[in-house]
Amino acid sequence: MNIRSVATTPFADQKPGTSGLRKKVAVFRAPTYLENFVQAVFDTIAVPPGATLALGGDGRYLNREAIQVILRMAAANGFGRVLVGQGGILSTPAASCVIRKYRTFGGLILSASHNPGGPEGDFGIKYNTPNGGPAPEKITDAIFARSKLLTSYRILDADDIDLDHLGTRMLGSMGVEVIDPVADYAELMESLFDFAAIRELFAGGFGICFDAMHAVTGPYAKEIIERRLGAPAGSVINGVPLEDFGEGHPDPNLTYAHQLVEIMYDVDAPDLGAASDGDGDRNMILGRGFFVTPSDSLAVIAANATLAPGYARGIAGIARSMPTSAAADRVAKKLGVPCYETPTGWKFFGNLMDAGQVTLCGEESFGTGSDHVREKDGLWAVLFWLNILARRRQSVERILLDHWAEFGRNVYSRHDYEALPTDVANGIMEQVRGAYATLPGRAFGNYTVKACDDFSYTDPIDGSVSTGQGLRILFVDGSRIVFRLSGTGTEGATLRLYLESFEADPARQGGDAQLLLAELIAIADEISGLYTRSGRQRPTVIT
Ligand code: G1P
Ligand code: ZN
Repeated sequence: MNIRSVATTPFADQKPGTSGLRKKVAVFRAPTYLENFVQAVFDTIAVPPGATLALGGDGRYLNREAIQVILRMAAANGFGRVLVGQGGILSTPAASCVIRKYRTFGGLILSASHNPGGPEGDFGIKYNTPNGGPAPEKITDAIFARSKLLTSYRILDADDIDLDHLGTRMLGSMGVEVIDPVADYAELMESLFDFAAIRELFAGGFGICFDAMHAVTGPYAKEIIERRLGAPAGSVINGVPLEDFGEGHPDPNLTYAHQLVEIMYDVDAPDLGAASDGDGDRNMILGRGFFVTPSDSLAVIAANATLAPGYARGIAGIARSMPTSAAADRVAKKLGVPCYETPTGWKFFGNLMDAGQVTLCGEESFGTGSDHVREKDGLWAVLFWLNILARRRQSVERILLDHWAEFGRNVYSRHDYEALPTDVANGIMEQVRGAYATLPGRAFGNYTVKACDDFSYTDPIDGSVSTGQGLRILFVDGSRIVFRLSGTGTEGATLRLYLESFEADPARQGGDAQLLLAELIAIADEISGLYTRSGRQRPTVIT
């Protein structure tokens, strides 16, 4: 078998974002597009001869083809061994688990997360470092710089390798080990949670509906929730990963996981509803007719963490992204542990976790996780809830009402305006920024502005500074409005409006967040000109 060096010309658009390089499938199909990026990664990370790579993806369209190319390129670039999930499957948290457990020289994860798949959909690829987490900006910037200078890539001339049967096969002098994508992850979950208590919960008739959304968590959820924990067969729905996710949008929110939402708001709803996204790192939690915001979920998990064996000794601290509500801050305060406010994106949690400063992390965008891996972890969050429910034996709603009574309720919502023309989205942000000078001290009905700023963050571990992370309007009573442009959308610009107000009085904590936030929503429009500028009367997605 020959190693070839193939001449190529650089692409100008291979800048990896916070979640890797994400593009339409058609872009990835352009000749040498994938090869160029993979070569740029391998050149940047300087592969030590004989190193091991972890490899897998969420099973979307192009996954298998891309894996075959990457295997041949890994063999030509000095890797000695690749651990690849059977069928090319590895959820993002499972990939992080495999990287850490087998101490690989990082891994390549193929996914565009919650974005739709199929020939018309999105594809993506990202490099995770040996700690199991997404590559930090200095590495992704270096990959981008390298991609612009690339003149050739290296590849082994070889046939496709069998990915469907476990075992080791040789590709040139490199071993390709096809591993069970679920086993290592399931073992890790068993070490963290009280499986015996959860088994007892299910044996007592407790019902769950887990919606895998035709995406990667199907096999994981079936093995763990149905087989190991004994939930009845059929508890996992849409459990077979499909290349186009059944033409769905595998994003576990109230809009896209509507099948689950209908089940959970029906008269005979099960006790717990949950869903995960394309690559398995996001989660949504529902009780019977009751939605748990991701911000509240993080706070409840933190407040009840010691009920899970893996966290019985308590947590070191919590980190949440800036737009995530401050519900977790209140728990941290009570527990006497630090709470960090970071920019959006999981990568900002990595340093804090590596330094042992935090145990739990969360984002309002349905991301929750801990230092067991270096990615957010959808199924982990569901198992944490099951563990809490198994020990407390109360409904999801009861647990939330009690939590609010104890800590107060951070009423919260996110409004997304998707696929706006870029200049329109920028115009809205500019109008808000332009109003900064006049806002402090100004009263809007019940709310008086205290301050406004452009959120920036200095990493307490490595001192790196991230600026321009969202426009914050902070009110005297602790309420907030945040405007932020998405970094992951692939069509035009997505504007996110985050709304938060605090309610300490249990008598007024119940009720619909949209109603409770109506005044803040109107203020956001008044300051930004959102409706007029966008020509939209309502958001694309409300969470
Ligand atoms: C979105 C979420 C963010 C998350 C990211 C990757 O990014 O808002 O919290 O880390 O996806 O899953 P955004 O599109 O807002 O930049
Ligand atoms: Zn994801």
